[in-house]
Amino acid sequence: MLQINPNLTDLVADAAAGLRQRLQATATITAAAPGRVNLIGEHIDYCDGFVMPFAIDRYIVIAGCANGTNEARICDHTLPGMAVLDVTAMQQAGTPKWSNYLRGVIRGFQDRGHHIPGFDAFIISSIPGGAGLSSSAALECATATFLEGLLDTVLDTKEKALLCQKAEHDFVHVPCGIMDQFASAFGKPNRLILIDCQSGEPELVPFENPDLTVLIANTMVHHELSDGGYALRRKHTEDGLAILGKASWRDVTAADVTAAWSQLGDPVNRRSRHVVGEIARTITAAAALARNDFEALGPLMAASHDSLRDDFEVSCSELDIMVEIARKIGRAGGVIGARMTGGGFGGSTVTLCDASKATAIAATLAADYAAATGISPQIFASRPSQGAHLVTSGQ
Ligand code: GLA
Repeated sequence: MLQINPNLTDLVADAAAGLRQRLQATATITAAAPGRVNLIGEHIDYCDGFVMPFAIDRYIVIAGCANGTNEARICDHTLPGMAVLDVTAMQQAGTPKWSNYLRGVIRGFQDRGHHIPGFDAFIISSIPGGAGLSSSAALECATATFLEGLLDTVLDTKEKALLCQKAEHDFVHVPCGIMDQFASAFGKPNRLILIDCQSGEPELVPFENPDLTVLIANTMVHHELSDGGYALRRKHTEDGLAILGKASWRDVTAADVTAAWSQLGDPVNRRSRHVVGEIARTITAAAALARNDFEALGPLMAASHDSLRDDFEVSCSELDIMVEIARKIGRAGGVIGARMTGGGFGGSTVTLCDASKATAIAATLAADYAAATGISPQIFASRPSQGAHLVTSGQ
């Protein structure tokens, strides 16, 4: 029931083998970048809010080498064929579609004056796609880290994350916030990443208690963020702020939203209530963690999920079912808190729980979810892991 996270060393070896097989090349540069899960602070990274994700122990690995040509030749382990990019040209969006993540990141380096030499690369992933665990941000951050290796340069971590976010905006057309790329770039073992999205500064918050763990349950249902739901939510929050006449959501109180309720109109008033409430919940959660009071996270995670379901309307029945099962298991069964995580419209839930009971909790989540939906979920545990990095031999 509880899946084992594939070992990074094995992924790296598989990436090198894939590169040899598909491109007849030998890896000299290998980059790894993790996905992320968000404990709390959802859909407020683009509202100057606070978010608290961490990098998970699931990675995208890119193994490759310079090839002495003007082309990048890239293969992906799950897909046939290869993407061929003329790296002497300023990159534009193109085909295959998945190559746009790489094209966008290469363009970011080109915009900074870098000349990109031709290279061969093979991509492998242990991050389930479409599961709300930021495989896109991981692919962008892995590409940026690979290019750092290829160019023998190092970008400032924040600049690297912002370059990757711009790639997603311009080449994939998802107007995402900064959470995913920051989590993938800044991740550290045993640390949550509390991001102040107004200042753009991450703070590493200890998550060291070995008695706790985080279960990620992939509902196996997903709707593309680029199908408009995400962009529409973002638009609602921009409309709300404009009607409230404030420069930043950080200046808006719950009383402001209540006072302007009918002027905001539905659904912008409910979207606004979510933003203000979620910012307050995340600040409260960060303060609780600073006191090592993990129990306080339970009610905050519950309120976050309810608000995402009812006010922000980014949940779906499968996510609600998974969260409900975790709630029923309750504290006596080892669950501290559960909620949907990430952009929503499907994807995964996050359950903070006692490590000693994680296997039993995962078994109940899997069985009861399958009974209710007919779908077998994918469940694994994760603790905060290392962010994007170049893998040196022996690692
Ligand atoms: C997606 C986006 C993030 C963030 C979350 C919701 O993952 O990429 O920027 O907005 O949704 O919290």
